[in-house]
Amino acid sequence: MSESSGVNVLERLAAPESRRNPYPLLRWLRENEPVHRTEAGFFLVSRHADAHWALGNTGDALVVPDREDLARQFPAAASHPAMEVALDGFAAKSKPGYTSLRRMMSRDLARTRVAQVGESIRLRCAQLIDGMAERLHDGEAVDFHQEVSRPLTFEVFAELFGVDGDERHGVSRDVLEVAGGLEAVDEEALKAADAASERVESYFRGVIADRRRSPRDDLMTALVAAHDTDLERPDDKLILGLLWVLWMTGFDSSAAGLDRGMQAILDHPDQLHWLRGDDQQAAAFVEEVLRYDSVILLTPIPRIAARDIEFGDRMLPAGAMARMVIAAANRDPSVFPDPDRFDPSRDNRPTLSMGYGPYYCNGAALVRAEMSIVLTMIHDRFPDLVAAGEPVWTEAIGTANGIRGVDHLPIRMGTAGQ
Ligand code: HEM
Repeated sequence: MSESSGVNVLERLAAPESRRNPYPLLRWLRENEPVHRTEAGFFLVSRHADAHWALGNTGDALVVPDREDLARQFPAAASHPAMEVALDGFAAKSKPGYTSLRRMMSRDLARTRVAQVGESIRLRCAQLIDGMAERLHDGEAVDFHQEVSRPLTFEVFAELFGVDGDERHGVSRDVLEVAGGLEAVDEEALKAADAASERVESYFRGVIADRRRSPRDDLMTALVAAHDTDLERPDDKLILGLLWVLWMTGFDSSAAGLDRGMQAILDHPDQLHWLRGDDQQAAAFVEEVLRYDSVILLTPIPRIAARDIEFGDRMLPAGAMARMVIAAANRDPSVFPDPDRFDPSRDNRPTLSMGYGPYYCNGAALVRAEMSIVLTMIHDRFPDLVAAGEPVWTEAIGTANGIRGVDHLPIRMGTAGQ
């Protein structure tokens, strides 16, 4: 078994040059230390075959942590409700009942909500496009992240979770405050996040009670109905936990998916005919966006090795916590030939962008549909967009939720479009 090189990979991943472009470092990792023990103590698994195997064998050779494991890892949760709700959400995975609730939610999201929300995405996207058209035609720069991907994603989530018009702003601010609190180090930010998490929980308890009284055709009603059919309900913690997980894992990643799509439009003008073809061609473009520049660098749900596991000549010891490096696996040349080339015509079936196995992304169908709709609409309306400066990458990268995203993505019309 080979020794660790002593390279502090997490520190290097957080450095500005890796936030811009993590791929040289990830390639080094995959080729030299495919099972790497980080300074933080958990392991990074970066070859496609190994990551795929580990994700597929979760629940057997690897398990997700229970509430006690998580509490040991995040001691601040004992005194901070904002962290506690996130822990409860993740720990709910190992609770009885979670699996059936999750299965129902995946089905509902994929079959019913995608069609329902698709129409709202089109309408809202058209409004956002109108809102920036004049400025783009006048040669001004527009921040795609702040003006399109973020507000659009928020509207989709608000609709999914039944947050009504007047409440949308307050709930969105509070949810973001809680998410920020999870990355926070100072007591002040944690306290603000605690207060926000209490407001959000009380809001959603109200929504749950409302759907019990007056069912609607929405995800919340479906969740409440599935919950009440299958489970006892002394409290609604399982639903609330699931909502937190959905929101925490889905919101930033969806917005980042749209941003990645826009980045691909800016960087690969020779491939834009894929967005002018049929639905399948748009879907192939989206799939390559998700593979080429993975939104999720590292799997957010930690896994613990239930026994010693050998990955080739490398060992993941029993009891070790592991995160799979999706962004490295998605550029593994043994599965994706010439992996650093953006090529929507490639076979993307083995991609790990949305995970694999029992914890496969619940929002995958929704996100793919949202990206296809938005990217084709924007390209259709503004066929000649270019970068109006460097994207500003978020400071927090890859450690808590595993997402690599931007805070700003400036675009403008190319000279041909003005
Ligand atoms: C581009 C956007 C997205 C990407 C790249 C993405 C990716 C992923 C990945 C890789 C996982 C597996 C995590 C692991 O194995 O540790 C996952 C899980 C999950 N995702 Fe997504 N996701 C996205 C959007 C969404 C959306 C929009 C939702 C909700 C509406 C969502 C809900 C979830 C949930 C609930 C899980 C956990 C599944 C479980 O507990 O069984 N995701 N996602």
